[in-house]
Amino acid sequence: MKNLNSRRDFIKTSALVTGGMLAPSFLVPGAYAAPDNHLKLAVIGCGGRGTGAVFQAFETGQPIKLVAMADAFQDRLDNSYKAIFDKYGAEKVAVTDDKKFVGFHGYIHAIAEADVVILASPPGFRPQHFEEAVKQGKQIFMEKPVATDAAGIRKVLAAAQEAKAKKLNVVVGLQRHYQNNYREVIKRIQDGQLGEITGGQVYWNDGGVWVRERKPEMTEMEYQMRNWYYFNWLCGDHIVEQHVHNIDIANWVKNSYPVKAEGTGGRQVRIGKEHGEIFDHHVLTFTYADGSVIHSECRHFSGAANRVDETFQGTKGKVFLSAGNHGTMTDWKGNVIYDHNRENQPNPYQQEHDELWAALVKGEYKFADAENAAKSTMTAIMGRYATYSGKVMTWDEALNGTVDLFPETLAWDAMPKLLPNADGYYPHAVPGKTKVI
Ligand SMILES: NC(=O)c1ccc[n+]([C@@H]2O[C@H](COP(=O)([O-])OP(=O)(O)OC[C@H]3O[C@@H](n4cnc5c(N)ncnc54)[C@H](O)[C@@H]3O)[C@@H](O)[C@H]2O)c1
Repeated sequence: MKNLNSRRDFIKTSALVTGGMLAPSFLVPGAYAAPDNHLKLAVIGCGGRGTGAVFQAFETGQPIKLVAMADAFQDRLDNSYKAIFDKYGAEKVAVTDDKKFVGFHGYIHAIAEADVVILASPPGFRPQHFEEAVKQGKQIFMEKPVATDAAGIRKVLAAAQEAKAKKLNVVVGLQRHYQNNYREVIKRIQDGQLGEITGGQVYWNDGGVWVRERKPEMTEMEYQMRNWYYFNWLCGDHIVEQHVHNIDIANWVKNSYPVKAEGTGGRQVRIGKEHGEIFDHHVLTFTYADGSVIHSECRHFSGAANRVDETFQGTKGKVFLSAGNHGTMTDWKGNVIYDHNRENQPNPYQQEHDELWAALVKGEYKFADAENAAKSTMTAIMGRYATYSGKVMTWDEALNGTVDLFPETLAWDAMPKLLPNADGYYPHAVPGKTKVI
């Protein structure tokens, strides 16, 4: 298969692309498509993050109306609609019942209603939803991760190119790119203030997330969709779903993507039927083309020590970063090179929307986050491929992997590819035996 991408063609990670005015008339100030001069918003995936992202869009204060919603499940859509309507009322929420789309294919119709879309379903659907939004020429905010396997990543990379050609803004919810401590510190690292970055350590170690219970009336498809965190076609494993944030910081700091991954992982404490197939720990090294090595660790062990942050070492000094607004650079004698001012710390979840919507109302083309998000998601997937297979995984073989996790048919009575055994337990990867690519 053709190598679809080179890690060297890294676009500037903060993804500010060369400015330019957008052609679509709705983005020209005073010429919005809606008769009352509002940008029309649709949300696809109305769970915690989709609902939260609609709040953040409204909190920008820009002229926005929510006009369509899509979710796989009626109850999720209804709860989200109620939360949004109760907070913002009819002035901002104009979703009539015929614009509430339920099921697997509602996204196509919801996207058609809008100028701007929020894509926040489980990540397994992101390639399909992103591809459609780009095809329909919409402006896009989409959540991370952007796929769960290499087949999905290849779709996102292709659609990212099309989005650029069409000058569609794409912001991805890797919100550390919109967080001041990361921006300020990484700018200084890239200016050479720590010298060459020779190594680093990135962590997402915590107690894990929710489990959604199986009910007797659920089909296998519905159960996996409800309890999506534990199935790789939907989630990608926690190394992809959460640790992508920290791995993405390593790529940003290195200004490139790793050439190979090797590591180990397994299921130590989270081994129930309800825990599907995902591992509860992964420990890896990612090696970059210049020979530098990043250690990556993620685990979901309740009651063990938590750690979610990033550290890097360079020839002139070192840095500690975290989402708690830390950013401390010191030289090897301990002198402080830069200590991030903890004042002026806008919430990055709000900041990403403030910046996106400010550009949209001015008709500017400023954001092309999809390519980096796809490559950082691919880095995490390559890590999973390495821990699941127990083999050294190179970037090129991982990206060109042919194992496609997505079901053949999307319907409530169709079967996902992974099924439980007679006792209700799911098969999971066994390092040294499992084929992952
Ligand atoms: N940037 C961040 O820090 C951050 C934080 C939380 C979640 N997220 C991401 O946001 C996404 C959603 O996570 P969440 O916590 O909101 O999960 P959630 O389960 O609360 O919401 C997901 C919603 O998508 C719906 N859905 C499932 N399949 C769908 C489909 N095919 N079409 C339309 N809707 C569908 C579900 O029914 C559910 O309502 C994930 O990718 C997650 O990684 C990002």
